Amino acid sequence: MIGRLNHVAIAVPDLEAASHQYAAMLGANVGAPQDEPDHGVTVVFIELPNTKIELLYPLGENSPIQGFLDKNPSGGIHHVCYEVEDIGAASERLKSEGARVLGTGDPKIGAHGKPVLFLHPKDFNGCLIELEEV
Ligand code: CO
Repeated sequence: MIGRLNHVAIAVPDLEAASHQYAAMLGANVGAPQDEPDHGVTVVFIELPNTKIELLYPLGENSPIQGFLDKNPSGGIHHVCYEVEDIGAASERLKSEGARVLGTGDPKIGAHGKPVLFLHPKDFNGCLIELEEV
């Protein structure tokens, strides 16, 4: 069901420093910061030849990233995103298998303008999984 790895998201305590590090030290193609108020994050996209990295930084109060950074002050991998062709079918299949879809259980429009949903990390070996319809 799942296809390509769409991105790995890393929560960072200092977005400017992390962007600079990826550009200057790792020689990556680093984009400009984008505020995503609906998701409570500022995101920097890094294009790699085979996937993307998203640097996540809290935006506003009640950002979902803030609690993660409180627990992981130096930052860390926040989620991985796999591509699916039909997110509605993926959601039904996962729920029928007993996996917990976060939030309302219905797909939302994600940071790339495409439908996404998140799966409970306790059902997937401690890893928060995002599915994105492509
Ligand atoms: Co993501």
